[in-house]
Amino acid sequence: MSKNTTNYSIKLIAPKDTYSVRHPVLREGRPIEDCIFENDDLETTYHVGLYSQNKLVGVVTYMKNNTPLLETKKQYQLRGMAVLKECQGLKYGNALIHYGENLLKEKGITTIWCNAREIAVPFYEKNGFSIIGKPFNIEKIGLHFTMQKDIQ
Ligand SMILES: CC(C)(COP(=O)(O)OP(=O)(O)OC[C@H]1O[C@@H](n2cnc3c(N)ncnc32)[C@H](O)[C@@H]1OP(=O)(O)O)[C@@H](O)C(=O)NCCC(=O)NCCS
Repeated sequence: MSKNTTNYSIKLIAPKDTYSVRHPVLREGRPIEDCIFENDDLETTYHVGLYSQNKLVGVVTYMKNNTPLLETKKQYQLRGMAVLKECQGLKYGNALIHYGENLLKEKGITTIWCNAREIAVPFYEKNGFSIIGKPFNIEKIGLHFTMQKDIQ
């Protein structure tokens, strides 16, 4: 069966909606509670979902949070970026980042940053992010790199 890259839609979703994608992609084999991030429920947090044929297949979360590595105060952290395995490589990740950037631009945010898993660094680089600071280890997940992108 050919993969459909065009028939999708993107919208803001509720925090708990993210779990069905976060769980298999980012927390496989762990309790569902591990999918809950601190500050998921804050009004300033945005959860973005990508639907393909009416099924949620990709998610990303944007949180108002500052890293000491950046001086700008108008920054947001990208978290929980995930696309279901069977839908990876269809540019859905690109589309989720693009949607988030437009949303945050409208709100006057100048910089997005994230702690990227080593395996995802090339994906963020393709989307205009650069590594800042030193790599660090997150227990049970592995080596991470802080990356940033100026959006205006
Ligand atoms: C990383 C992830 C979100 C990317 O989403 P995706 O929909 O598969 O990626 P896309 O199809 O939009 O790819 C966008 C670009 O990044 C590239 N890319 C994606 N993953 C890559 C990888 N692991 N290595 C190298 N390049 C990669 C693609 O080739 C594409 O490049 P192009 O635009 O020049 O053709 C997805 O693969 C995923 O959920 N991975 C597992 C979870 C994860 O690692 N999340 C990130 C946590 S920090």
